[in-house]
Amino acid sequence: MIGTGYVGLVSGVCFADIGNQVVCVDKDKNKIDKLNSGISPIYEPGLDELIKKNFIAKRLTFTTNIDRAISTSDIIFICVGTPTRKGSIKVDLSFVYKCTKEILKYSKRKKIIVTKSTVPVGTGDEIEKIVKKNKKLFTVVSNPEFLREGEAIRDFRFPDRIVIGSNEKKAFNIMRKLYAPLTNKGSKFFTTSRRGAELIKYASNAFLATKITFINELANLCEKSGVNIEDISLGMGSDSRIGGRFLRAGPAYGGSCFPKDTKGLVSAAEKYQINLSVVKSVIKSNQERVNLLTKRVHKILGSNLKNKKISFLGVTFKPNTDDMRDSTSLKMIPYLCKKGAKVNYYDPSGEKKEFKKIKNCNYSSDIKSNCKGADLVILLTEWDEFKSIDFKKIVKNSKFKVFDLRNLYSAEEMKKNKIKYFSIGRPNIN
Ligand SMILES: NC(=O)c1ccc[n+]([C@@H]2O[C@H](COP(=O)([O-])OP(=O)(O)OC[C@H]3O[C@@H](n4cnc5c(N)ncnc54)[C@H](O)[C@@H]3O)[C@@H](O)[C@H]2O)c1
Repeated sequence: MIGTGYVGLVSGVCFADIGNQVVCVDKDKNKIDKLNSGISPIYEPGLDELIKKNFIAKRLTFTTNIDRAISTSDIIFICVGTPTRKGSIKVDLSFVYKCTKEILKYSKRKKIIVTKSTVPVGTGDEIEKIVKKNKKLFTVVSNPEFLREGEAIRDFRFPDRIVIGSNEKKAFNIMRKLYAPLTNKGSKFFTTSRRGAELIKYASNAFLATKITFINELANLCEKSGVNIEDISLGMGSDSRIGGRFLRAGPAYGGSCFPKDTKGLVSAAEKYQINLSVVKSVIKSNQERVNLLTKRVHKILGSNLKNKKISFLGVTFKPNTDDMRDSTSLKMIPYLCKKGAKVNYYDPSGEKKEFKKIKNCNYSSDIKSNCKGADLVILLTEWDEFKSIDFKKIVKNSKFKVFDLRNLYSAEEMKKNKIKYFSIGRPNIN
């Protein structure tokens, strides 16, 4: 596995756990040192135990030595990042091409190169061009990854589908054998062209982002028209053609995939002079959502935020991960601090380097000290430990308010307890 991040580490550990000999390689020495001393560099439930188990069983090794990792492997997975290029919507493929060149350099016998990183349609062809000097040695396959952070191990073991794209039939057989322990338990094994597999990944992420954005926009309408968005989600989602998942209104979508992949898809389509207008408006709407939420904070606390005490519960883009990439908190917290608010935050995955330099922003190590004396508690991430908080007992400020971006609490109950409560897409009954 080249790249030992969220995807490479989880997949590598899980491949080892189903009996393969796996080498995880990363250029980040700090990450590899941590792993070699038994510490996971990421927060992912269940991962620490699996790392230890497979490390002790000698099925799993961690190294910065790419030469050794490549020369000893038959199947090489590219799992490096594919971020958005600075100042553009294009995908930065430099990490993918750099490790392709390294694969070419260090391979002396036949290898299968499998792209697990999310890459625009046609990238496999480019990888093939790079290794064409020694084309006979390589088969280039696409195997996009669909795991969700926070549920990554379960997703690896019980995937909805395993997508394999190749232009060579023999590659399907090798990949089928590799994934046999999962397909034997019923996971779907779907084969297509290499370009097809690359595009399936982008299409899936863009569609899920569209569902979230759609329900978020409808939540705006519900707030104005006195309708409860949850009734809409349930009423719509019960239609099997639509499905209820990814239909829960909340903050803007974030994370390491949807924001960059929606942009990456639009940019890849532009290369073929195709205008993906739906995806474009999803991107725009999602960007505007953060402004809309900060406007609501002003509506709740007034235009002057100077010295207002605001406590965030959760700052990661979703629960059970420490990933901060494109989380709504990254825009909301600096904005509120700039307006003079005093922001405290608590997240079960720990303090964040992203907020260390922000004036008026402090980390608290538990819910209670985080919320004490707050004028407004903003519930941003749906961690389990935020689901049954006795706000009156912990906030201890007679006039505090709660802004629940995940609709975790009942507005009626809050009213009964005389707590001013605001949520997403539900009628205001304060
Ligand atoms: N994170 C997710 O939930 C998820 C889910 C599905 C797909 N993906 C895709 O998988 C890919 C990886 O995502 P991630 O979240 O794991 O990224 P990440 O940033 O967590 O990890 C990438 C790792 O690759 C390493 N790396 C980069 N260049 C290298 C090189 N030349 N040699 C060795 N190591 C190198 C980096 O040091 C880093 O540790 C991306 O394309 C992403 O879109 C991510």
